[in-house]
Amino acid sequence: MANRMENAISQKSDFGYFDVWKATIEERTGVQITPDRERALALLLDRRMKELDSEDVDQYMADALDVAKGAQEWSGLIDSLLVKETSFFRHRPSMDYVRSWVKCAVRDKSSTEPLWIWSLGCSTGEEAYSLAITVEQAMKAEGLEPRYGIIGTDISREAIFQARRGIYRESKMASVEQSVNRAYFDPVGRGLWRVKADLRRRVCFLTSNILTDKSPLIRRKMHLIYCQNMLVYFRRWKRREIIGQLTNHLDDQGCLMLGLGELSNWLPSGLTRVTQRNIQAYIKDERIEQRAEQKAQQGETR
Ligand SMILES: C[S@@+](CC[C@H](N)C(=O)[O-])C[C@H]1O[C@@H](n2cnc3c(N)ncnc32)[C@H](O)[C@@H]1O
Repeated sequence: MANRMENAISQKSDFGYFDVWKATIEERTGVQITPDRERALALLLDRRMKELDSEDVDQYMADALDVAKGAQEWSGLIDSLLVKETSFFRHRPSMDYVRSWVKCAVRDKSSTEPLWIWSLGCSTGEEAYSLAITVEQAMKAEGLEPRYGIIGTDISREAIFQARRGIYRESKMASVEQSVNRAYFDPVGRGLWRVKADLRRRVCFLTSNILTDKSPLIRRKMHLIYCQNMLVYFRRWKRREIIGQLTNHLDDQGCLMLGLGELSNWLPSGLTRVTQRNIQAYIKDERIEQRAEQKAQQGETR
């Protein structure tokens, strides 16, 4: 990767200064800078150069893109550039599905093993906390002491910092029902709400890039992977590659939840799609994989 970028930078007179930025961002984060985002990128670069009192575009680019020397500048650029829009219970039908999936999962599980859930591309934490509330409510409804852990990961350091604090403005609470607000949030200062400590303790947030940290802290298989509104910024082939990676991280009978329409005309190997139309969920079934392997072996021996 470094070589391609180094070449691109050295040939930038042909390749185009702006194209080098776009290509590097996509190569390092997966996020495409589509034409409608180009202006935002140009303004951001311009602003940063002014703030740093730098007039040499080549020097600024070389410094910012230097993996070691430019780490801090790069991280700040990414924080400013990526779309981090999110909200509590953003896609209700998906959260409703999680609720019913958890109920089935805990009924099926004879052991008292906790459920492990990964919120990938979690932004400022609303998604991970919504999952925590949903899982907690589902387990209590089954008469169980909640046993689960949630890992939230995002490439943005700034977003993860905010997620860990768990403090949200009143305007963010519009999508939170009053009873949920009372049960899981404390008022802290004027128009601010903080996720209660008990719930915060359940959720561990990490800065992590899915392209480079293939399995952030996640040695164990996950029971549910929730990844919405991130892959939509990636090219199709990249989405498929990452979904393959996520499938390997899922436990047998585990669930992968994507955003509606984020994967079309392709069924990831080893997964079956849940038929409900207003969600995009898949269940891992290792028997499918085993059958495919058996078939392949039979083909070889013929
Ligand atoms: C639009 S937000 C979606 C937030 C949340 N999942 C939701 O649906 O409300 C997309 C998030 O993906 C993160 N992201 C983008 N590229 C990433 C990568 N390569 N690795 C991890 N996170 C990434 C961004 O920083 C951003 O916070």
